[in-house]
Amino acid sequence: MFETLTAQPADKILALVQLYRQDPRPEKIDLGVGVYKNADGVTPVMRAIKTAEHQLWQQETTKSYVGLVGDPAFSDVMVDLVLGGAVPRAAVAAAAMPGGTGAVRQAFEMAQMANPDVRVFVSDPTWPNHLSILRHLSIETVAYRYFDSATRGVDFDAMCADLAKAKAGDIVLLHGCCHNPTGANLNAVQWQQVVELLQKTGATPMIDIAYQGFGDGLEQDASATRLLASALPECLIAASCSKNFGIYRERTGILMAVSQDQSAQALNQGTLAYLNRQNFSFPPDHGARLVTMVLSDAELRADWQAELEEVRVSMLGLRQQLADELRQLSGSDRFGFLAEHRGMFSRLGTTSDKVDALREKHAVYMVGDSRLNIAGLNSATIPVLAKAIIDCGI
Ligand code: LMR
Repeated sequence: MFETLTAQPADKILALVQLYRQDPRPEKIDLGVGVYKNADGVTPVMRAIKTAEHQLWQQETTKSYVGLVGDPAFSDVMVDLVLGGAVPRAAVAAAAMPGGTGAVRQAFEMAQMANPDVRVFVSDPTWPNHLSILRHLSIETVAYRYFDSATRGVDFDAMCADLAKAKAGDIVLLHGCCHNPTGANLNAVQWQQVVELLQKTGATPMIDIAYQGFGDGLEQDASATRLLASALPECLIAASCSKNFGIYRERTGILMAVSQDQSAQALNQGTLAYLNRQNFSFPPDHGARLVTMVLSDAELRADWQAELEEVRVSMLGLRQQLADELRQLSGSDRFGFLAEHRGMFSRLGTTSDKVDALREKHAVYMVGDSRLNIAGLNSATIPVLAKAIIDCGI
């Protein structure tokens, strides 16, 4: 029967990882997949995570199941980290998920259960896997304009014009901070306008927040999510611990369903548990437990925050350095947006031909839409990249 299968398109980001691995050139630079790397090109286990892991190894006496939605203590610390008291805890249903991707997938499924004809409004562009999952679930997508390729900022008027077409029963997918793939984000005034637009249309926001702490800081990066959750009757939030806790392979994330009408909480919570049972039963525990330990212990939490802040500040430094280098080489300010963008990514805004040329001539690997992972750079590779960008006529 399997002969009826058709080949599925390769994920662009993961295909690039393969290409990079196969490239024998020693000077190659990997700016592809969204994984943080320090100046030595290493993705370290964060100090607090390592300590928690050590404690857990000593203390853990069983590997028996925990619960269908994971440990309630994990939900509590994550609701606090993301929502920071913006809504009453009793308004939030939450369940541990296998990574941010698991949370995204389950959020779409929950929306589809509530409304089989749901449409999901997605930014143009968005993380390619959003589109792939939606296609897999046969959910209709509606693109809303987002990235302005002239300014490399957000085309906010166009975004609002497109979002005005959403209606009750639709989902509007928003990146809580550090937009992936562009790095271009809304300011506080614009977020307020998005809230008003959602209030007017009745559409429900779904917030994907995978990079809290990588942009302007832990609190600041959560502010849009908190605003949306507190101002609108309902929202879905898919949060990832992969990046800000550096526990990528542990698959740790959470899905929250917020209803201002607290009587809906039990139904939301039951739906999340049901979906977990259908899809994978019990969510992975190891990463979630480490996160819970780190966030519940004042010393570990302070150390984690300090290390996360070092990561954030180092990425800002790399952004500034690259923008400066390109200003010098190009004799113009046209790359100034690199210092304005936030998070792990920036979209250069060039053609796929030029992205190919960067790879073929200079062994610089970035995603075909010209997304580059800032954390893949260091002070030695920045001048190399800047020269390659100019050489390729970008
Ligand atoms: C990315 O966008 O590179 C990351 O979110 C990793 C992934 O799974 O695609």
